[in-house]
Amino acid sequence: MKRRVFSGARPTGKQHLGNYLGAIQNYVSLQDEYQCVYCIVDIHALTSLEDTGGLQKNIHEMMLDWLAAGLDPRKSILFVQSHVPEVMQLHTLLGMVTPLSWLLRVPTFKEKVKLQPHNVNYGLVGYPVLMTADIVLYKAEVVPVGEDQLPHLELAREIARRFNNLFGNAFPEPQAKLTSFPMILGLNGKEKMSKQADNDIEIALSPQETIERVMMAVTDPARQYRNDPGHPEVCNVYSLHRYFSPLQLDDIATQCRSAKIGCVDCKVLLAQEINSSLEPFRERRAILASKPRHIVDVLADGTQRAQIIARETLREVKQKMGLI
Ligand code: AMP
Ligand code: TRP
Repeated sequence: MKRRVFSGARPTGKQHLGNYLGAIQNYVSLQDEYQCVYCIVDIHALTSLEDTGGLQKNIHEMMLDWLAAGLDPRKSILFVQSHVPEVMQLHTLLGMVTPLSWLLRVPTFKEKVKLQPHNVNYGLVGYPVLMTADIVLYKAEVVPVGEDQLPHLELAREIARRFNNLFGNAFPEPQAKLTSFPMILGLNGKEKMSKQADNDIEIALSPQETIERVMMAVTDPARQYRNDPGHPEVCNVYSLHRYFSPLQLDDIATQCRSAKIGCVDCKVLLAQEINSSLEPFRERRAILASKPRHIVDVLADGTQRAQIIARETLREVKQKMGLI
């Protein structure tokens, strides 16, 4: 039996380069070695969404990106979290073995309290418990995520361990698996790329839109005039070249340091490289977008396969806890 991988991502709609390099490519590369379960976590999204009107559209757009990027529904289980409601039961049960103090010290919780002081809801505190339920419901051993999720994974291991100690061994302790791009910075070069901060580059943009977006990127702040020498090691555009222009990397660095190439030229080059690297993805996406039924079918099939595993685990948990 192949070992199992689980990961989830919030339904943020069209995916950006951070999601693509930090998560999706990792998901795709694990499909042959593991049995992979990938989930769009719509219930998690409710912890910070007040307007849920765009949720269905976001799920659809995100699945289009996932499939076009190479997630294969014949290999992996792809589904939407709320379609397998067993996770909500497991969340409640795991809540009974999770000390509140563990949850209150989670860094993302503290951040959210600052970000949405008007909406510090109960679900927000339980966010990592629901995330643990996602993972252990499928007894996943490996969890591909970005760096920002490491504290959640640590907690997931602690909750799994505590359950195992209290009620008998049920869950493997899940390990995080980082990509080689665990943190892609946004266009301002300061915070992580995210839709919320409007500092992202969506992978499904047209080539022209991609150029316009890349042009907004902040480069080396010390380089004010065209002839100023640049410092590629502190430049965010250069860090994206690392992925998209690996063969030209040394040349770009030398030309930047000697001011042979200006930031505008460097960005044009980056946009061209992004566009050519994403061309096959964009073609596949256009084909998939013309068949909206396909996504519905993929999700229905994924739900069915996920639910078979979920029911089995939930039964075992209830038995161990003395509920049945
Ligand atoms: P989110 O859209 O925040 O739910 O993230 C979905 C997945 O993409 C998670 O595994 C994140 O760790 C990853 N991710 C999101 N933004 C970035 C980023 N800027 N750099 C690297 N990984 C990211
Ligand atoms: N918390 C993750 C994020 O914000 C999403 C998520 C939910 C997740 N459940 C998960 C990630 C389980 C990995 C495993 O990106």
